[in-house]
Amino acid sequence: MDSLAGKRIVLGVTGSIAAFKAAEIASTLVRAGASVRAVLTPNAARFITPVTMRAITAQECLVDLFDETAEGQISHITTVEEADLVVIAPATANVIGKIAHGIADDMLTTLVMAARTPVLVAPAMNTYMWTNPVVVANVERLKALGYQFVEPVEGRLACGSVGVGKLAPVEDIIEAIVSLLPGARTRDWAGVRVLITAGPTREPIDPVRFLSNYSSGQMGYAIARAAMAHGAEVVLVTGPAEATPPAVTEMVRVETADQMLRAVRDRYDSCKVVIAAAAVSDFSARTAQQKMKKPESGQPARLELHQTTDILAELGQRKGEHVLVGFALETEDLVQRAREKLKGKNLDMIVANGADEENTPFGPGPSRVRFLTADGEDIALPLMSKQEIAEQLLTLIHDRYLD
Ligand SMILES: Cc1cc2nc3c(=O)[nH]c(=O)nc-3n(C[C@H](O)[C@H](O)[C@H](O)COP(=O)(O)O)c2cc1C
Repeated sequence: MDSLAGKRIVLGVTGSIAAFKAAEIASTLVRAGASVRAVLTPNAARFITPVTMRAITAQECLVDLFDETAEGQISHITTVEEADLVVIAPATANVIGKIAHGIADDMLTTLVMAARTPVLVAPAMNTYMWTNPVVVANVERLKALGYQFVEPVEGRLACGSVGVGKLAPVEDIIEAIVSLLPGARTRDWAGVRVLITAGPTREPIDPVRFLSNYSSGQMGYAIARAAMAHGAEVVLVTGPAEATPPAVTEMVRVETADQMLRAVRDRYDSCKVVIAAAAVSDFSARTAQQKMKKPESGQPARLELHQTTDILAELGQRKGEHVLVGFALETEDLVQRAREKLKGKNLDMIVANGADEENTPFGPGPSRVRFLTADGEDIALPLMSKQEIAEQLLTLIHDRYLD
């Protein structure tokens, strides 16, 4: 986030139901020290007011192409000339189509036409619009011309349907902005395909109940998000986590440990690096066909538990040229147990995560972890956000195993 300080960003907003998210994007950028100039299409101004954007950015918000307030200046030219980056978030099908075909009939599209900075587009629209061949072709055309995209994600859309088309999470958009600014870190993972597992698994007990754990998916998602920003191809296999997953190269949603095993097995050969951050259940239950009844007269109920296949141990047995990174969550003897897992599963590195009163690894908050490598290194990190841990982890993996 430090790299945002002093950067000049033009934030284009278009007539999407997600236009209100532009306020959060602007406010995040401003808080990180960036100078943000909001440019609304006239239709965007029907969803979010220029007053809101002006108040957040502390700068005049541009809407009307012919409202040349600054004497002797042509706003659409001076605004982009002074900028480091143009971001359009959210971007409608309409604006994507206009830019792809050289139409410049309002302040935003005219300004984009004059831009010599990178242009980042974060589309948001109904699934049928997003998959419409005309929109698909327009997006392809823009990508071929060098426009950058933060792909929309799957979710419940304003029209009530569920599918791909929802604006990418604000954190993903900010990550993409940071990666495109001058002086940004390099795309040092370009060409590397990495398989990341995240979230908990659910093991059914009967048709209405399951065994699971507190994993929120946030650690795996932070790694996936950072790996995308570093230019990796990311395959994300995720259990049913609460958090919204980032846009990645391939996303596979699973429920049970067995489904996660199969999804990982199928993709192992095509991925150089595996980072297993999922909290895979060690046990599955024998699943009852019908809802289990309470035992008579207060007798204890019994569940028969079976061990699930240890996914990482299986991968470690046919390691080949892979780089394998695991996570160890322990409530006692953290380092010793993490070392045992590192060795026993034939891993290159393990992230040891203590779960106690001082450190809660679950959820969006910070954690204290240490990286243990097969070569005997032991790197204890201070309390850090999951995003920072993800950055440190990717840097270490890159420096040790990919250089
Ligand atoms: C309530 C409502 C929500 C809309 N949401 C979207 C949307 O999310 N994405 C999109 O591409 N178009 C959406 N539209 C359609 C656009 O507003 C319409 O195509 C408009 O011409 C876009 O103008 P602009 O691209 O110049 O901002 C929506 C329209 C309405 C009335």
